[in-house]
Amino acid sequence: MQLAHFLIFLTILTEADPYKVLVYNSKFGFSHSNFLGNIADILVEQGHNVTSLIPIIDPEVRDGTSKSTKIFIPQALETRKILSVMRERKAEYFSMSNYDPFNTLLVGKISDTLLVAQCKAVLEDTKVLKQLQADQFDVMIVENFDMCGVAFAYLVNPKSLITSSASTPFSFMFEEFGIPLALSYNPTSYMSFLDVHSVFERVKNIYGEILMHALLYPGRWMIEELYRDKFGNSFPSLQEISSHAAFTFTNSEPLIDFAAPTLNRVIAIGGIGAKTPIALDQYWSDVVSRRSQTILLSFGSVAKSITLPKAIKQSILKTISAFPNVTFIWKYEQPEDDFGKCASHTHPNLVLTSWTPQNDLLNDRRITAFITHGGMGSTQETALRGIPGIFIPIFGDQPRNAGMMQHNGFGKVLDKFDLKNPETFIAAIKDVLNNDSYRENAAKVSRMLAKKPFSSKELMIRTVEFAAEFGPSRALRPLSYDMNFVEYHNLDIIALSLLLFLFLIYLLTMSIHISFSKNNVKEKKQ
Ligand SMILES: *[C@@H]1O[C@H](CO)[C@@H](O)[C@H](O)[C@H]1NC(C)=O
Ligand SMILES: *[C@@H]1O[C@H](CO)[C@@H](O)[C@H](O)[C@H]1NC(C)=O
Ligand SMILES: *[C@@H]1O[C@H](CO)[C@@H](O)[C@H](O)[C@H]1NC(C)=O
Repeated sequence: MQLAHFLIFLTILTEADPYKVLVYNSKFGFSHSNFLGNIADILVEQGHNVTSLIPIIDPEVRDGTSKSTKIFIPQALETRKILSVMRERKAEYFSMSNYDPFNTLLVGKISDTLLVAQCKAVLEDTKVLKQLQADQFDVMIVENFDMCGVAFAYLVNPKSLITSSASTPFSFMFEEFGIPLALSYNPTSYMSFLDVHSVFERVKNIYGEILMHALLYPGRWMIEELYRDKFGNSFPSLQEISSHAAFTFTNSEPLIDFAAPTLNRVIAIGGIGAKTPIALDQYWSDVVSRRSQTILLSFGSVAKSITLPKAIKQSILKTISAFPNVTFIWKYEQPEDDFGKCASHTHPNLVLTSWTPQNDLLNDRRITAFITHGGMGSTQETALRGIPGIFIPIFGDQPRNAGMMQHNGFGKVLDKFDLKNPETFIAAIKDVLNNDSYRENAAKVSRMLAKKPFSSKELMIRTVEFAAEFGPSRALRPLSYDMNFVEYHNLDIIALSLLLFLFLIYLLTMSIHISFSKNNVKEKKQ
């Protein structure tokens, strides 16, 4: 017994010192909170002292952390008002186009004001700020999405700041993280495919980028203005604050993402939000045993299946009727509504359910394929568990995620506007059921992910501990941050070269002209 005590004593001694970590985790979207919440919990498991600062924007969203100490900033009245306006104005996810500038800008403007409203509440709580400043954190982790947290980090003044993205980086994040956009071959969020040889497609990619800047820039500008109003005009820009980050975490998985330039400071920890799967309980085990093939169908939690237009619901039912030997598990929020009751009655191979143990189902070999909207979490779970799929992106970053899966041979992307057409949908399902290449590719990528030299979890923990010990490194910060647009793109050199070229052409034409007229003079004299 004494030896055991001694061993425990030894392991405590040899473990690294616990560090104090603050995670800024606003509650507005589960995929964001899931990413940040999991980071917080993993660090707690590792023995660190982690505090989560949680501004409540949407009380219905889970905060994703169960192990860290939580400090809440209650939802402000203004936040609640804006949120209810957003709820009333139900977004028509299944019928609107990502490329529609009016819709995009309108949605963008409302969500910007929502984040700013809650940011005001964060700044008004001076007690919390004072306490956090006194705590002297080793590391603070923020996401470059609700930019209130990035600016707040400047006030909290941790030894190291770690910026992050709960998805693959998009739009403004490239500038804030210091990574090149590579727009000619790196698809923006709105693109599933990018034919790099097509002028039209590259123009479309640039247009998508411009649209996202227009969507996200005002929000950043409003946050900067809010802080400058409060703390004076010398308050640094969000990009300047981000530029001094020790590291950047992205929820990107290099083994499935589109390859693009990056920096040593940017650490990809894709899949960090995925839970370890467990065996199915009796109910679900029975469901997946009913027929030799089972397909899981889910559009995620934002674009709800109950809000699908009637024509699409009927088309999905027709598709399901075409496969009587396949069980379909459809995540449908209200199985007891009129449509749900009728559909379950007429379709014995359909299981409507308001909740599924998605990650555990995907891990079960009895699931044949996954039909998904291509949210970041769902595509990563699909890849980790090695399941082929049909990817039907609805909005946001889903087109790019879906394209990424097709690029890796997991299955095909299906246009959401083709959902109305059962023939197309049936053909897509036949393809994924009959073409073995998808299952083989999926299984191979899944094995590769399982054997990665360093897991996302290890990378994340070691990076945070390193940042806590040493602070930001000057070597890791690219000089590009200090350059203006003209310098960065060498526009001055290009302009000078053009001028020089024009000048040379001028000289050349002049000299030809002169020698020509001299010859003329000579000829006349003769
Ligand atoms: C963890 O950090 C908080 C905030 O700084 C502090 O109040 C608390 O005492 C710390 N807990 C431990 C066990 O160090
Ligand atoms: C379903 O399975 C039964 C029995 O194996 C078979 O006779 C039938 O042709 C199958 N139906 C379809 C549409 O594949
Ligand atoms: C299966 O899918 C792959 C990838 O799309 C394709 O190259 C191949 O021709 C397909 N095979 C069949 C038999 O359709």
